[in-house]
Amino acid sequence: MTGANGVCRPCSLVVHEPHAILFENIHPRAAERLEGRGCTVETETFAPTPEALVERLRSVPGEGPLVIGIRSKTKVTAEVFERVPRLAAIGAFCIGTDQIDLDEARSHGVAVFNAPFSSTRSVAELVIGEIIALARGLFEKSTAAHAGRWAKSAKGAHEVRGKSLGIVGYGHIGSQVSILAEALGMKVRYYDIVAKLPLGNAVAVSSLDELLAASDFVTLHVPDTPRTRGMIGREALDRMRPGAYLINASRGTVVDLEALAEALDQGRLAGAAIDVFPVEPKRPDEPFDSVLRGRANVLLTPHIGGSTQEAQANIGEEVAAALASFFERGSTGGGVVLPSLDEPLAEGVERIWNVHRNVPGVLSAIVGLVAQAGVNIVGQHLATRDDVGLVFVDVPAAERLEVERLAAQIEALDTSIRTRIVRGRV
Ligand code: NAI
Repeated sequence: MTGANGVCRPCSLVVHEPHAILFENIHPRAAERLEGRGCTVETETFAPTPEALVERLRSVPGEGPLVIGIRSKTKVTAEVFERVPRLAAIGAFCIGTDQIDLDEARSHGVAVFNAPFSSTRSVAELVIGEIIALARGLFEKSTAAHAGRWAKSAKGAHEVRGKSLGIVGYGHIGSQVSILAEALGMKVRYYDIVAKLPLGNAVAVSSLDELLAASDFVTLHVPDTPRTRGMIGREALDRMRPGAYLINASRGTVVDLEALAEALDQGRLAGAAIDVFPVEPKRPDEPFDSVLRGRANVLLTPHIGGSTQEAQANIGEEVAAALASFFERGSTGGGVVLPSLDEPLAEGVERIWNVHRNVPGVLSAIVGLVAQAGVNIVGQHLATRDDVGLVFVDVPAAERLEVERLAAQIEALDTSIRTRIVRGRV
C-alpha cells in the first residue's frame, strides 16, 4: 500500500506472512528456523548502507511485515524507520545493539532482538581453560618448547583441585564458570551486587574485598557500568592474595591494566589472562598494543570469549526463535526496546497487539472500544517501558470481522504507534 508521499504504509491489520532479509552472512540456522515457521527468507553476505537498506526493503513486494537480520556492521538509522514503515522487527545476530537507533525503533514500535546469552558457555569454557593454563604455566612452557627449549619443571605448577576461585559477577557467565569450576574440585566463592542463588556448593561473600583476599584465582564477569569501571585497580590488586591469578573476559574497562602490569612485575600476582581491553582493534589488520604484551605469565587473547562455532550457531538459533515468537504470538520477551510481554496464545484466540505512547487513559480508551464493539475479551496483558506501552487484547477468533474492525479503531487512537492482529503460527 503506498501513501500520497510515496512512502510504503504498513497494512498491519491484514495478516500477511513476514518477509525476512538476513544480511552479513548470518548463520544458516537462522534462515532454516524462520523458514520453518512460514517466513519468506532472503540471505545476503554484505552489510548494506542505510540508503541501500531502505531501497532494498521498499522493493520487497507485498504488504506483509518486514524483518531484517543484521550483525554489527549494518547501521539502522532514523531514516530507515521513517521510510520503511513495514519494518516490524530487527534481529541483531550479535550481542551489541549500538548499530541500531534504538530510540527511533521504540518510537516506531519496531521490536529489536539480540543474543546476549548465546556465548555464555563459550566464555565459561575459555575461563576454565585459562585457569588450568595459568596454574600449569602452559603458555610459558609451550613457548619454550616451540623455541627448542625443554622447560620440564614442577616449580610453580599446581593442580586447580582444592584451590579457591573468586567470581565477581554471578550472572549468566559467572554462574556457569561456578558449575564447571566445582566439577574440577575448586572451592567457589562469588560476589555480586544483587542477591543470587548459589549453585552447587558455591558461597556468596558480602564484599569484593573479602572475595579478593580469599581467592587463588579471581575471574571477572560484570557488565561495563560506572561502578565496575576501574573496579580492579591498584587497591583491589593489593587486596588479592600474593601469588594469585586474575582473569578478565568481561569488559576492558573493568581492570586498570597499568596497575595490573605493576603487580605482575613486582611478583605480587603470579599471572593473568586478559581477553578484553579498554581499546581494541576494530579490524584484524589493525595493530594491537597493550602494556601487558611480552609477559610470559600473561595470556592475551583478542576478545574471543564468545568466538566459537557453537556460539555463532546459538546466536542464529536464539534470535530467530525470538523473531518467530514475535510473529507467532506477538512476544517481545528478551527484546531490547519494547516493553517485554510474552503470553501464550491459545487455540481459537486472536490477539490485537498494540504499541502505544505510555500516557494516562490509553488502556481505558482501548477497553472502551472493546466494550462498544461487543467483543468478548479472553485475556488482556499490559507492559510498559519508559514512554511506550504494549497491550495484548485476546479475543475469540470466531469474531474475526469484529476483531478487524476493533483493531482498526484501536490503531486509529492518537496514542497508538503500531497495531497488528496476531493469528498464531506464521
Ligand atoms: P549478566 O548480566 O548475566 O551478569 C552480570 C552480573 O554482574 C550480574 O549478576 C550483575 O548483578 C553483576 N554485577 C553488576 N555490577 C556489579 C558489581 N559492581 N559488582 C559485582 N557484581 C556486579 O552478564 P553475563 O552474560 O554473565 O556477561 C558478563 C560480562 O561478560 C559482560 O560484561 C559481557 O559484556 C561480557 N562478555 C564477554 C564476552 C567475551 O567475548 N569476552 C562474550 C560475552 C559476554
